[in-house]
Amino acid sequence: MRGRLRCCVVTDDVAVRGSVELTGVSKRYGSLTAVDDITLTIASGEFVSLLGPSGCGKTTTLRLLAGFEQPDAGDIRISGSSVAGVPPYARDVNTVFQNYALFPHMSVRANVAFGPQSRRVAKSSIPKLVDDVLRIVRLTELADRKPHQLSGGQQQRVALARALVNRPSALLLDEPLGALDLQLRKVMQFELKRIHEEVGITFILVTHDQEEALTMSDRIVVMNGGRVEQDGSPQEIYSRPATAFVAGFIGAASLWSGEICAHNKDDTLDVRLVNGTVVRATATEILEMATPVTVVMRPEHFVVSNTDPALMGGPSGCSVQATVVQTAFQGASITAALDLGSGMTALAHIPAQDHPHGEQGLSAMTPGSVVWLSWLPRHALVVCGQNAPAPVL
Ligand SMILES: Nc1ncnc2c1ncn2[C@@H]1O[C@H](COP(=O)(O)OP(=O)(O)OP(=O)(O)O)[C@@H](O)[C@H]1O
Ligand SMILES: [Mg+2]
Repeated sequence: MRGRLRCCVVTDDVAVRGSVELTGVSKRYGSLTAVDDITLTIASGEFVSLLGPSGCGKTTTLRLLAGFEQPDAGDIRISGSSVAGVPPYARDVNTVFQNYALFPHMSVRANVAFGPQSRRVAKSSIPKLVDDVLRIVRLTELADRKPHQLSGGQQQRVALARALVNRPSALLLDEPLGALDLQLRKVMQFELKRIHEEVGITFILVTHDQEEALTMSDRIVVMNGGRVEQDGSPQEIYSRPATAFVAGFIGAASLWSGEICAHNKDDTLDVRLVNGTVVRATATEILEMATPVTVVMRPEHFVVSNTDPALMGGPSGCSVQATVVQTAFQGASITAALDLGSGMTALAHIPAQDHPHGEQGLSAMTPGSVVWLSWLPRHALVVCGQNAPAPVL
């Protein structure tokens, strides 16, 4: 968008406009620390998701950026300038909330025009501003309807248009798709991504839906208990989770607690699990003997077979025996929940053609069946600490 309106944050540097920096930011409510010493840099034009469980401080972080809350410690810079003491209306950001907060008695066009009118933008330039954003969000044909004559997804687009028409340098989106049904949410995820590409401004999206974050973002900031657990691309977060919490929160994973019991010459590690089994795995950092760790396995990295691969010449430490607890048919594959004993569980995806009972068909993978799970050491990732919620189907 050209001719961007700016408030008190003034910069002509395109590389800085819309950038967001939080340095040591904390926010407390009484004895509760909702945001705990967050340091984060978001580049101009990036699409970043703040992802984490309920109560982890996502909305509070967004409200601090928008100026609805003031930090107790730390500094926030937007477009290169500190916003300490700058009120919400004077910040170069706009927020889209989960409840669209549209004016029910006004048409789509009037809803969108309301912002520029109240900011006393020259009357003659408003129709074009409004038409431009209605085109971007694909609402041109519905401009004269009232909100109650629109679907949920269309109302969501009006809310987006209302924010975009102010031409902010950064858009803050708090669970914007939360009120939509699953199918519409998926459509709107792609729409939001397209709109982001078209307008080119910074998008900061708050969500507790990991799939939404993986689908839409350039970068994901995983939060837990007011802190940042990990900050990286969707691929990094999924394939190299920094902690057991991140591994369990993003995508499905089997999380096995244990401690380091050997360092091998081929740079793999052996981990003695809590059920006594020793498994071979890989770490991205140097870990001392006896360090408490979690072995993270993604379901797609297990191979399921009827016989112990170690007896067939496979490497030792790369297989465990498990009992099928439950299966779920998912078309191209089945997902199996398995029991390893001593309270340890695993989750495996089995492509239909690789089913271990071959011609007996998928129905032979019934609860109570005993199978072997095997893996490559590079797919068994060791992370520090033990914080392993049980996997769910
Ligand atoms: N105004 C407030 N007064 C007191 N406590 C608050 C206030 N706002 C938020 N909190 C608390 O701060 C913590 C973080 O809240 P926040 O709304 O940021 O969570 P969230 O990550 O957005 O969660 P959700 O996914 O449920 O929206 C919570 O424990 C919440 O109860
Ligand atoms: Mg929230």
